[in-house]
Amino acid sequence: MLQPPKRYTITAALPYTNGPIHIGHLAGVYVPSDIYSRYLRLQGKDVLFVCGSDEHGVAISMKAKKEGVTPQEVIDKYDGIIRKSFLDFGISFDNYSRTSAKIHHDTASEFFKKLYDNGDFIEEVTEQLYDAKANQFLADRFVVGTCPKCGNEEAYGDQCEKCGSTLNATDLINPKSTITGETPILKSTKHWFLPLNRYENFLKEWILVGHKNDWKPNVYGQVKSWIDGGLEPRAVTRDLDWGIDVPVAGAEGKKLYVWFDAPIGYISSTKEWAQREGKDWEPYWKDKDTKLVHFIGKDNIVFHCIIFPAMLKAEGSYILPDNVPANEFLNLEGNKLSTSKNWAVWLHEYLEEFPNQQDVLRYALTSNAPETKDNDFTWKDFQARNNNELVAIYGNFINRVVVLTNKYYEGIVPNANELSDVDEATLTELKAYPAVISSSIERYRFREALSELMNVARLGNKYLADEEPWKMVKTDPARVQTQMYVALQIAAALSSLCEPFLPFTATKLSRILKIDSPLNWKTIADASDLLPSGHRIGEAELLFSKIEDEEIQKQIDKLEATKTANKDEIASSLAMTEPQKELIQFDDFSKMDLRVGTILEAEKMPKANKLLILKVDTGIDVRTIVSGIAESFKPEDIIGKQVTVLVNLAPRNLRGVESQGMILMTNDTEGKLVFVNPDTSTSLSTGSDGVGNGETIN
Ligand code: MF3
Ligand code: ZN
Repeated sequence: MLQPPKRYTITAALPYTNGPIHIGHLAGVYVPSDIYSRYLRLQGKDVLFVCGSDEHGVAISMKAKKEGVTPQEVIDKYDGIIRKSFLDFGISFDNYSRTSAKIHHDTASEFFKKLYDNGDFIEEVTEQLYDAKANQFLADRFVVGTCPKCGNEEAYGDQCEKCGSTLNATDLINPKSTITGETPILKSTKHWFLPLNRYENFLKEWILVGHKNDWKPNVYGQVKSWIDGGLEPRAVTRDLDWGIDVPVAGAEGKKLYVWFDAPIGYISSTKEWAQREGKDWEPYWKDKDTKLVHFIGKDNIVFHCIIFPAMLKAEGSYILPDNVPANEFLNLEGNKLSTSKNWAVWLHEYLEEFPNQQDVLRYALTSNAPETKDNDFTWKDFQARNNNELVAIYGNFINRVVVLTNKYYEGIVPNANELSDVDEATLTELKAYPAVISSSIERYRFREALSELMNVARLGNKYLADEEPWKMVKTDPARVQTQMYVALQIAAALSSLCEPFLPFTATKLSRILKIDSPLNWKTIADASDLLPSGHRIGEAELLFSKIEDEEIQKQIDKLEATKTANKDEIASSLAMTEPQKELIQFDDFSKMDLRVGTILEAEKMPKANKLLILKVDTGIDVRTIVSGIAESFKPEDIIGKQVTVLVNLAPRNLRGVESQGMILMTNDTEGKLVFVNPDTSTSLSTGSDGVGNGETIN
């Protein structure tokens, strides 16, 4: 785009409504997109910032199954929670929609129909993974397996989150149904495919040539390696019962693939906004002078840089994104954030612990944003950012200026008398900041932009510390007037320069300084008189307050508790990994004669790795039992051990030795093989409710 854009359409990835949102979402997508949008609005640009809830797809169905409620209940619940979090954290969407809205169903259906009518799809009957037990086709998150590209064992049917590859479910090695744990079978079914291979040249030209220098290297690199690897047709329909109906004949019971409908959600959210505001939505998506920018996390790159652009291109009337500044991931205290493992700082919980401290979190997340590599959020760093930067630098400067102005001049901005060289230099430096900060923001370098903002506060702090007006207020009042005037200009500039990053602080500071509407950044760059002499400011209020060690320790303890809880959960899920066998009747069970025995002798079976030959005293006799436990136990370690023995199992010949019974074994919580070990202090009978075979064992 050679001319400056006429307008901006800014999108933030639609969050799945299968859980609340956490700091990773905020750091990766919503804070940067909000900074960008707020910044542009401050420059007087025509900005549309849209988002909405992503309410289809397997993630939602799975959550509903798990909670035993309907998908509708799931999406209503989390759509509400997520909306509130965005509002609470000042994410300034012009519209936040939902993909369950009628306008979205209509928009996505029309989009599909248009491509269908154009002949942009391939219709094909193929063999797909099917869970025979659940009577269901398995796609996307309904199936996990090993990624053929990187070996990650938890890749989904459509994507590996580890290496970012898009996959077809049938590519997975060792696929397993996440519904029943079964190994799927293949079953044929008809689907519609978007032939991405047809778009290879277009994508090469547009991204590999056209955006080599302005897209982030992580984004460009990923896209390049996919294109270089060759693109294949991709199914855009699914055999599922939750989603948008495929709007063509012969597709009854089928739904659109969630990644087909979700990005269209940006368009439907725009339409919803336009209807409400009485505007025309089309220029925001179709005028080539509109700059379209998608803010996403790195796991969404392929969908926003390959699949959605191919859809837009196929449709024909849409513009393409000018940039897709995807971020890497944020970790929490050294571990990957995880909704299912509850390893997260949830936004709604944060606000309960740190009420009204949204800007502190926004600040900490931006200073440590995962822009070029994965980053780690730690509570200690959060505390340090607040105490050593927001409180000690920014808050301290503002507080001094406001307190002294009230003390010396009853809150009235004094005259600028004669400017010293230092004053001139300070004001000149101040004027340069809007351009410096803008340049970083426009290159999507938000942490750099934020550190430049802090340099403005540092400039103010240093000025006051060097000038020490409090030392000469009696002896040289005219000089102190000038000093305070200069300091007040810096404070005024800060109130606007900080707005994209710290919107709550900006509001508070503007209120303190009695600035009605945020200063234009051009004004800051051009004029020296931001807060004119004679203007009356308000009373001092603390912008930030110190966070104590105890508050931080509380958060760390909370995470420790989650870790402990996860251990138990992992143990119990391991114990359940063997699917339950078929039901048996009590009669079947009561046929078993179980006794407590003692191992008298144990030796290895010659030429067999797994087998031990045991002599066991069962209380009724001493017999030989061959047991396949040699890899877990040394013979000498188990002599004298009490074990549970099934004594009426028909004898079997194993490598020439007759085995007359079976030792019962199980796995402990860590998956280790252990004896079913009768507690020697209590007597135990099979059928302790008195209906067993009456054999008491002890
Ligand atoms: N729901 C997806 C996720 O959380 C993002 C969807 S972005 C959109 O990963 F483009 F599809 F909207
Ligand atoms: Zn992978």
